[in-house]
Amino acid sequence: MLKPPITRMGGKSKLRKTIIEMIPEHTCYAELFFGAGWVYFGKESSKVEVINDIDKELINLFRMIKYHAPEIERILEYDFSGRNIFDEYKNATIEHLTEIHRATRYLYLTSQSFAGKGGHYGYGTTTRPSPQIFYKDALQSLKERLRNTYVENLSFEKIIEKYDRPNTFFFCDPPYWETAGYGNTFGEKEHLILRNMLKNLQGKFLLTINDHEKVREWYEGFNFKEVEVNYSVSKDKKARGKYKELIITNYNT
Ligand SMILES: C[S@@+](CC[C@H](N)C(=O)[O-])C[C@H]1O[C@@H](n2cnc3c(N)ncnc32)[C@H](O)[C@@H]1O
Repeated sequence: MLKPPITRMGGKSKLRKTIIEMIPEHTCYAELFFGAGWVYFGKESSKVEVINDIDKELINLFRMIKYHAPEIERILEYDFSGRNIFDEYKNATIEHLTEIHRATRYLYLTSQSFAGKGGHYGYGTTTRPSPQIFYKDALQSLKERLRNTYVENLSFEKIIEKYDRPNTFFFCDPPYWETAGYGNTFGEKEHLILRNMLKNLQGKFLLTINDHEKVREWYEGFNFKEVEVNYSVSKDKKARGKYKELIITNYNT
């Protein structure tokens, strides 16, 4: 199983094995809310694959890994984990950078910061500096994995409209209900748009979300699997603890 190159709030590292075992037969695999892509990087390739996220910098990173991984590796080979380099990347003006440099910057900031949030240089007395990205061929296997994948940067509705067919399987991991967002609004309105589109789907879907009364109401009639996820080893102190989550599908597993 491959490991994503970045960490991201809500990443499915703990649940990915369970999710992968529940994926039904399909020809086209579409991931609407990609984030770090734990499930995609963990599963076998499907015939056709689509990954999508609304975050422009995040998707630029995966596009650049797909097409220009050796160049990103070449730039990072001369970097190392350091507070002054971190600040330089952080304070760079994105508009002045090329797509390759933007991707390098994003990879550096997320991999060298506290909880992968890119805000503060990550250091500690019990964790080592994160070295992976500075080594030769660090991105090679990810580049290969992305080779036959469509990489999209749209809001989820557009992806459902474009790719929904009886042979499509959608993995949906939206921002959790009533939890901190990702820089864009994802409230009840967006959750209901998603629910309505999933209700009328030609293909199959699997949705992961926090276990909440309201969520249970929205998805009444679909198949529910309750799971408990332990985030006790999360790098982010505030995120530690046990959480109840739901895996909702429109097919029997
Ligand atoms: C819970 S995270 C996904 C985590 C991912 N499954 C992983 O393993 O890392 C939710 C993602 O949804 C994205 N997002 C938020 N609103 C969106 C929208 N309207 N359309 C597509 N993606 C969206 C966020 O940028 C974020 O990366």
